[in-house]
Amino acid sequence: MDKFVIRGGNPLVGTIRVSGAKNSALPCMAAAILTEDQITLENVPQVRDIETERRLLASMGAEVGQREGRAHDRITINCRTLSDPVARYEIVKTMRASSLVLGPLVARAGMARVAMPGGCAIGGRPIDLHIKGLEKMGAVITQAHGYLEARAERLRGAHLVFDKITVTGTEDLLMAAVLAEGETLMENCAREPEVTDLAALLTAMGAHIQGAGTSTIVVEGVTSLHGARYRINPDRIEAGTFLIAGAITGGDLIVSNCKPAHLGALIDKLQEAGILVEILSPETLRVRAHGPLRAADISTEEYPGFPTDMQAQYMALATQAEGVSQVRENIFENRFMHVQELVRMGANIKVDGSTATVRGPARLSAAAVMCSDLRASASLVLAALVADGESILDRVYHMDRGYERIEEKLRAVGAQIRRMGNIFPDKNQEKTDD
Ligand code: UD1
Repeated sequence: MDKFVIRGGNPLVGTIRVSGAKNSALPCMAAAILTEDQITLENVPQVRDIETERRLLASMGAEVGQREGRAHDRITINCRTLSDPVARYEIVKTMRASSLVLGPLVARAGMARVAMPGGCAIGGRPIDLHIKGLEKMGAVITQAHGYLEARAERLRGAHLVFDKITVTGTEDLLMAAVLAEGETLMENCAREPEVTDLAALLTAMGAHIQGAGTSTIVVEGVTSLHGARYRINPDRIEAGTFLIAGAITGGDLIVSNCKPAHLGALIDKLQEAGILVEILSPETLRVRAHGPLRAADISTEEYPGFPTDMQAQYMALATQAEGVSQVRENIFENRFMHVQELVRMGANIKVDGSTATVRGPARLSAAAVMCSDLRASASLVLAALVADGESILDRVYHMDRGYERIEEKLRAVGAQIRRMGNIFPDKNQEKTDD
């Protein structure tokens, strides 16, 4: 099992490049199911979740092109024949976002069998809202033997109001609606940039969508979609993680190939904490710490609020800030698993329900720690970058699910980090988090 060995204390200086957004690439790959033509996606990160989705699509009969040489960030998918519209448990259990194929499969093939994802490290993660929406669109859904089966000759447009804002739920039903008969009005939708990315690809494929990126989306169904080429937006969570890496190490980091416009809530908070963040261009940010870090509270919310996927990383930063920071997690229960490991490194954090109180600054000392989920791993990497001595992070396969060559990127800007073991071993995959 791979480990990271990190020696803390080096300020990160230089330029670090952000990869494409995993959480955009996943739904965009699922969208390929909706057409018999080829879909080409660019700026797709080389991370384990993407490999899992490639395997999932291939297991259904799709032709998924190999990444080659300089085109390693490009993926081609052709779903001309979908011989087996089934998402098997063996794959779904390792990546909850596999439920994203449900809507497109029913829309395209008239039926889908998708393993129920079950619980995961950061909370219950139900898919009841996906199911409810598809039923409203006329699908007949049954459950047996851990699988969910959905059937519909052709889905019908409907008026869908999400009880709760869900990112993949919005994406799943958007993909169902584009091939449905008539108009679908979707309300209380997620406004995340990843939804907008998916809608842009679907539009390039010939779909009629209005309002993506707002809470109300209107779709006029069409009878077929065609092939398209689309470039995925940069990963805002990876960019945010690098901003914190620059700040926590007292460095001077240029974060390139990012979209500052997608990082508003985080940038505001970093500035409140006393960090200099400059927008150098629509694709470049510069982060510097000047003077001591100040405590600042965060409360996670749906976009454009402070992202839950940045909560763990922010908490690592808060351990280094002067004063008391309250970190409130509103999206997922049980998303504080990094806390115990940070405490083992010397952080002063108390959890009460969905609020963590962080008292700083704490002098962190290197330790052997365990990564429990994707963003928790990122939090521990950040803490290790400022800890006194050499930390060993176990189970970094969680990190590999969503961060492309993270150790190489960090090393190039001055971090002392190395990997022990093989990258992407097939075994030891556990349930997914985000
Ligand atoms: C997506 C992101 C993940 C991020 C999360 C919140 C992907 C692949 N993952 O996850 O990185 O942390 O958004 O920004 O894009 N819920 C229900 N019923 C449902 C669906 C969701 O109750 O049918 C609840 C969830 O339990 C959670 C909340 O809604 O409390 C938000 O979840 P959701 O937005 O669906 O998260 P994901 O789309 O799984």
